[in-house]
Amino acid sequence: MTTTKTLADVAAISLGAVRTMERHGLDYCCGGKQSFDEACLGKGLTPESVMQEIEQAQGTGAPERDWQTAPLGDLAKHIGATHHEYLKLELPALGKRLDKVLAVHGARDPETLNRMAKVFGALREEMEMHMRKEEGILFPFIEQYGRAEAQGQPMPPVPFGSIANPIAMMEREHVSAGDALGEIRALTQDYHLPSYACSTVGALYEGLQALEADLHVHIHLENNILFPRAIALERQ
Ligand SMILES: [Fe+2]
Ligand SMILES: [Fe+2]
Repeated sequence: MTTTKTLADVAAISLGAVRTMERHGLDYCCGGKQSFDEACLGKGLTPESVMQEIEQAQGTGAPERDWQTAPLGDLAKHIGATHHEYLKLELPALGKRLDKVLAVHGARDPETLNRMAKVFGALREEMEMHMRKEEGILFPFIEQYGRAEAQGQPMPPVPFGSIANPIAMMEREHVSAGDALGEIRALTQDYHLPSYACSTVGALYEGLQALEADLHVHIHLENNILFPRAIALERQ
């Protein structure tokens, strides 16, 4: 056995670990509670060699921040400024691209394209609402927790009983977003371009795949680091 860690634990090591796991199709995000060793074996991979790749990935590129120890408010701000901003730009842009593809190629494969438009539309609406809840309600409380921790003060009371309540709701919505991404991946045959693909279809697939990768890192930072740290502070 290489490790007793779960996929989520290993993903929390570094962004290099996240990228490596992504490349191997290891679901550290919504399937993060699985054991790392078992998930690797299930994919026909040797856990030792994947772990080695992760260790090598850590040494490359600019050093990243250790979000396990950085002030909690900084992590909430980082998620907002990078991943939420990304979605606010990309979701409308992808929506437009999808509309164009539907108008031009809708008749070629109406079943797949209409279903894709429906799943994407629901994902977009849900994520836009989800981010409003995080930015308007949950993250400001998490930032207050972070300030209280830094000053050695008790955690301020929250109006929803425990911080674990809104967090559980956010996690349920993450599962639903993960399901939508999985369905879009299946509908596009793992982002394999159809024979009729023009440059808009290419740009759509590329954008959807990048959205999937970004959303996986985003959900990972919340589910595996931000939320557990907030819950642990409240329990102290
Ligand atoms: Fe978020
Ligand atoms: Fe979220």
